[in-house]
Amino acid sequence: MDTNEAYKRIKRLRKELEEHNYRYYVLSDPVIGDREYDTMMEELVKLENEYPQYYNPESPSQKVGSDISSEFTQVRHDYPMLSLSNTYSRGELTEFDTRVRKGLNEPFEYVCELKYDGTAISIRYERGIFTRAVTRGDGVQGDDVTSNVRTVRSIPLKLRGKGYPEIFEARGEVLLPREGFLRLNRAKEEKGEPPFANPRNAAAGTLKLQKSSQVAKRPLDCIFYALYGEGLLFDNHYDNLTKAREWGLKISDYMKKCDNLDEVFAFIDHWDKQRFELPFDTDGIVVKVNSLRQQKKLGFTAKSPRWAISWKFSAERAATILRSIDFQVGRTGAVTPVANLDPVSLSGTTVKRASLHNADFIELMDLRKGDRVYVEKGGEIIPKIVGVDFSSRPSGSKKVNFIDNCPACNTPLKRDPAEARHYCPNHSGCPPQIKGRINHFVSRRAMNINMADATAGQLISAGLVKDPADLYSLRKEDLLKLERFAAKSSENLIMSISESRKVPYHRVLYAIGIRYVGETVARRLAESFGSVDELASAETERLSEAEEIGEKIAGSIKEFFEDPVNMEFISKLKSAGLQLKKDDVAERENGGNALEGRKFVVSGVFENYSRDGIKEMIINNGGKVVSSVSSSTDYIVAGENMGPAKLNKARKLNIPVISETDIEAMVKKKKDVNE
Ligand code: IVH
Repeated sequence: MDTNEAYKRIKRLRKELEEHNYRYYVLSDPVIGDREYDTMMEELVKLENEYPQYYNPESPSQKVGSDISSEFTQVRHDYPMLSLSNTYSRGELTEFDTRVRKGLNEPFEYVCELKYDGTAISIRYERGIFTRAVTRGDGVQGDDVTSNVRTVRSIPLKLRGKGYPEIFEARGEVLLPREGFLRLNRAKEEKGEPPFANPRNAAAGTLKLQKSSQVAKRPLDCIFYALYGEGLLFDNHYDNLTKAREWGLKISDYMKKCDNLDEVFAFIDHWDKQRFELPFDTDGIVVKVNSLRQQKKLGFTAKSPRWAISWKFSAERAATILRSIDFQVGRTGAVTPVANLDPVSLSGTTVKRASLHNADFIELMDLRKGDRVYVEKGGEIIPKIVGVDFSSRPSGSKKVNFIDNCPACNTPLKRDPAEARHYCPNHSGCPPQIKGRINHFVSRRAMNINMADATAGQLISAGLVKDPADLYSLRKEDLLKLERFAAKSSENLIMSISESRKVPYHRVLYAIGIRYVGETVARRLAESFGSVDELASAETERLSEAEEIGEKIAGSIKEFFEDPVNMEFISKLKSAGLQLKKDDVAERENGGNALEGRKFVVSGVFENYSRDGIKEMIINNGGKVVSSVSSSTDYIVAGENMGPAKLNKARKLNIPVISETDIEAMVKKKKDVNE
C-alpha cells in the first residue's frame, strides 16, 4: 500500500467507524457486530501508527484515551453553569407556574425532561469539532476534562451533517448506566477496592481520573439537555435540541412539550412510576419554558433561572438484609422472584418483601442470601432493591440461582427472550395461574363479580372451577359446602355472577385476560371487531390495523385464539350467555339517559373507578365528556390531585365540582325513577 492509498483507507475507516459509533452509542441501533467493529478499529490503529503524519485528534481511534496523566486546568465558562431550584411539592410547582404566568403575561409552553442523575458537562464545538469539555465546578469556572470526555463513546468528536452554529456549547449530563455501574463495582470489589455509592458518584469520579485510557474503559454515556451560543437555529429550546440530534448529539427521547400544568403533572406521574425501567438513574423532572425569548424575559435569580424548575422524585431508601427469595407465578404464567427481607421501615410502612423483576436483574445485581441491600420505594407499591452493600457481604455466600421448574406445578419453565422473563407454560393446569385469571375475571373493571380473592383458591381446590367460565355453572349447593359460605353469602355470589352476564362486550374482552389486552386495548378491539368470533379469526395484519394495536399485542391475541384450550373457554363463555358481541341495545340498557345533554370534564384520580370508567359511565348515560373547562361545561367530576388549573377555571366560571359518588347518585336516581 502506498502512502496515498493508506491515507484513503484511513479516511474510509474513520468515516465508517464514526457511523458505527453513532449507530451504536447514540441510536442504540448497531448494524455490525462487535468483532467486525474491533477488526476495523485494529486496522485503523495499525495504519495510524504506520503513518503518523495522518494523526487526527478527531479520529475514532482517539476514543481509547491516553496513558499520560493529566492535570486539570481551570477554565472559566462563557455562560455560567447555574443550578435549578428544586421542589418536591405540587403546591410549589403551582406557585412556579403562577410566577411564570405573571412574568410573561402571554401564552407560552413548557418542555418537560428527565433530570439525569450524573454529572454536568459543557462541551464546546467549533466548526463541528469537539474542542473542549469542562465540568460545572463552582458554576463560574470548572475543570478542563477534555481528554477524558473525548473517550465517551456517545459524544461525537466531529458533528454530523451541516448547519450547526460555528461555535456553540452543548451541555448535558455524563452518566454511568446502572448496568455499567454494577459491573464497575463488581470489578472494584474483586480488586479489593471500595465500591462507589451510586452511579452519580461513579460518573463524577471517572471524569476526574488522571488517565483517559482508564476513563475509556468505563461505559460512560452523555445525554445533552441544552445548547448555548450565538446563532442557534431556533428561538426555542425544544427545536434546538431536536435539531442537535441530527448532528449526532444524544438527545433524550423523552422530552415533551406541555401546554399547561396538568400536562406537566401527568408527565411527572408517568415518570415517577416508569423511571425504574430506564437503564440509568433519574432523580426528577426538569420543567423549562420553551421559548428562548421568554426565558430571557423571565431571567435569573442569583443562583438559578426563573424559567425552569426541577421536580425531585421522593425516594426514601433503607438498608436491610436479604434473607431468601420466593418465586411467584402470576396469571399469565410469568414467574417473578420476590425477596424476603428483614422488616425495615420505609416511607411510613414496614417493608418485608421486594420485587426482583427477573433472572437478569438478580444476575446484574449479583444478589446473594445474607447480603445487606438497599431498598427504595418509588411510585410503585412494591419496593425495589436498588443496590447491594458489597463491603459487608458475608464470606462464602453463594449466587442465587433462578429456578428451572414451576414452583407451583413443577412444569419446566420457558424463557421469553423478548421480555427477559421466565414463565410456566402450563396455563390450563397451574393453580396460581388459574387463580390469577379468575380473580382478574371477577375484578370490578372486568366482570364486576362480588367475590373475595380467597374464594378462587377454595373453588379450585374443591374442583368446582377450572377456568373462569365454570363460575357460571356454580350452584348454591356447591358453595354451601365451602368454608365461610352460608345461605346468604352463597346466594349473593350466585346472583352477582348471574348479573355479570349484562357486562358489555368490551369489558368481557378485558376480563378474558389476553396478555397485553388492558382496558383501553379491549375497548379499541371491541370498536374494530364486532364479535369475539371476528376477533378470533382476524389475521395479525388486520389486528394491527386497529387503533393502538401494535405488533406485540396483535401477536398475543393471535396466539391466544390459536390455543384450543382458550377456544374451549370462549365457547363455554358463549354458552353461559355473556356479551361476546357488540350489542347496542344491551350497552344502552346498561346505561340510561340520566345525563342527556350535559357536558362533563373528568379530572384527577378516583377511588372506585378509573378515569376511563367515569367517562364510560357518563357516555353510557347519555352525557358528553369534554377535555377542557369552558363556559359550556356543566360539571367537573373531580378526583384526588385534580389539576389546579382546571379547578381555578371551574371556580372562576362557577361550574359545580362534583365527586365520583355524586355522579353515581345522579345516574342511579334517574334509573330508580325509571324502574
Ligand atoms: S437544565 C440553568 N436539564 O441538574 C440550568 N439540567 O441543578 C440548566 N440536570 O447541574 C440545567 N438533567 O447537570 C437541565 N434535563 C436537564 C437536566 C439537568 C440533569 C442537572 C444539571 C445541573 C443540575 C441543575
